[in-house]
Amino acid sequence: MAIVKATDGAIRIAAEHVREGRLVAFPTETVYGLGADATNGKAVAAIFDAKGRPRFNPLIVHVASISGAKTHAEFTSLALRLAEAFWPGPLTLVLKRRAESDLSDLVSAGLETIAIRVPDHPIAQALLEAAGRPLAAPSANRSGRVSPTQAQHVQMDLGERVGLILDGGPTAHGLESTIVDATGEAPVLLRPGAVPAETIESVLGRTMSRAVDVRDKPLSPGQLASHYAPEAKVRLGATDVREGEALLAFGCDVPTTAGPMINLSPTGDLIEAAANLFAALRALDQTGTKGIAVMPIPEQGLGEAINDRLRRAAAPRS
Ligand code: TXA
Ligand code: MG
Repeated sequence: MAIVKATDGAIRIAAEHVREGRLVAFPTETVYGLGADATNGKAVAAIFDAKGRPRFNPLIVHVASISGAKTHAEFTSLALRLAEAFWPGPLTLVLKRRAESDLSDLVSAGLETIAIRVPDHPIAQALLEAAGRPLAAPSANRSGRVSPTQAQHVQMDLGERVGLILDGGPTAHGLESTIVDATGEAPVLLRPGAVPAETIESVLGRTMSRAVDVRDKPLSPGQLASHYAPEAKVRLGATDVREGEALLAFGCDVPTTAGPMINLSPTGDLIEAAANLFAALRALDQTGTKGIAVMPIPEQGLGEAINDRLRRAAAPRS
């Protein structure tokens, strides 16, 4: 049984799991999160694998304090007001990611922004403190199921896929955090959640505009533009490298090339490949190459999400 009562000792063990790159489910004031070291790409990839997510949605980064958040994100004055009013608590801010941040690219699915919050739950806080790492944590359910509000829900949904589930009893809100884009000075509500929009608006003394909720819908071409897309033309399913192309390889059977090449995983490990994907696309793009030839990636496990992202990168843009 992976469920353990969240004693000090259990939290210490969970923190060790996190530092070693393993997954830990833990309670927050909203729902249970499936957490991993947000600076460890393979650990973050393992979250997507365990959830069975067909796509790489950007995840929420959990930190212990405002000052912790400031090491990863650019705080606008709007963001500072919101953080001071609602943190710790169930408000997530989308902010511009700082260049110095060591968060894995996979956490933000290659975006230039990150979603970050300081949870108001003693167990979440103790875990963050003991691990000494920011935690990437989506809700701890299989993709397409409802968010878990009890440790048993996590066990039923994820079972063996998560090494340790810290049991802190039922969560207080039972509803995910409210997400506000605070990258500019005009707040945009991205996801309604545990903090009512009206409460935020009364603190700010202004109304928020509402973005279309894109949670489980496929990204439209318009939203695609907001995702990191390489300048280089991306060619999928490549078994050779054409003139002027860089190679994004996978596995051990790689065509020879004199140009730039990055292998997502020489051993053909899809978790390793997912962890490397966004950084590799960026690095090849930065060589100034005209095109990127991408070797075929099997459409299994995380391969489905990797291929989804690659298809978006290859989609024609205007
Ligand atoms: O209450 C919660 O927020 C829970 C607990 C565990 O903290 N977490 C949670 O995470 O709901 P998740 O991964 O299920 O939801 C993340 C949401 C997604 O809708 C995603 O699109 C959005 O956050 N998101 C993350 N990064 C974003 C970004 N850079 N820009 C816009 N939306 C972002
Ligand atoms: Mg969720």
